[in-house]
Amino acid sequence: MKSFWDERYSSEEYAYGVQPNDFLVEAAKRLPTVSQILSLGEGEGRNAVYLAKCGHKVTAVDQSDIGLLKTQKLALSQGCTVETLVSDLREYEIGKQKWNAIISIFCHVPSELRRVLYPKIRAGLKAGGFLIIEAYAPEQLMRTSGGPKEADMLVSLDELQAHFSDFEIVHLQALSRVIQEGLFHKGLSDVTQFIGINPTSAVCDRAPCL
Ligand SMILES: C[S@@+](CC[C@H](N)C(=O)[O-])C[C@H]1O[C@@H](n2cnc3c(N)ncnc32)[C@H](O)[C@@H]1O
Repeated sequence: MKSFWDERYSSEEYAYGVQPNDFLVEAAKRLPTVSQILSLGEGEGRNAVYLAKCGHKVTAVDQSDIGLLKTQKLALSQGCTVETLVSDLREYEIGKQKWNAIISIFCHVPSELRRVLYPKIRAGLKAGGFLIIEAYAPEQLMRTSGGPKEADMLVSLDELQAHFSDFEIVHLQALSRVIQEGLFHKGLSDVTQFIGINPTSAVCDRAPCL
């Protein structure tokens, strides 16, 4: 799959444009100022750069070095800084209670990888940290407006509800909406959206902890 994404990102043009995802823009209004944010499957940088310009400290992970080079180019052109890490999400260590927010915007991976990633995401968020997801829903298979063509890569509302049932749910919705993002996300689309807050209380690693 890496070769697919390298190929997609190999032209000068930004495949999904340089404007941030509009759901993310709305969701990000809830974030504390100067949050440490991890973006999974960031691609060419449109979302990471937006968040960095809002004053956040953003780390962008993607398997595509070509995509992340374009992230760096976009950040430079817009006068901000994004940390980029080339890694497959199968290997990437998210860390423990490290992030104020983790975002996943159209980062579609197989269900077996999602099952492994969800607990890592939970563990990686600080107490009170935000998880923000927009993904194509199973209903999108019937459409030609974007997203993977395999049912296993799509994300349902039920899946997110089940995996993050203990989160404080700020927003959880499956909906049809028009998306215009560059060359490959075009038109009426079925998506699943999630904004949740990690309830895990902070672990004190000093003893005694009074
Ligand atoms: C549809 S693009 C979305 C890019 C970006 N989030 C955006 O909204 O513009 C999906 C991205 O997920 C990345 N991705 C998919 N599977 C991955 C994996 N296993 N490890 C790292 N990145 C992955 C791809 O390389 C690609 O950049």
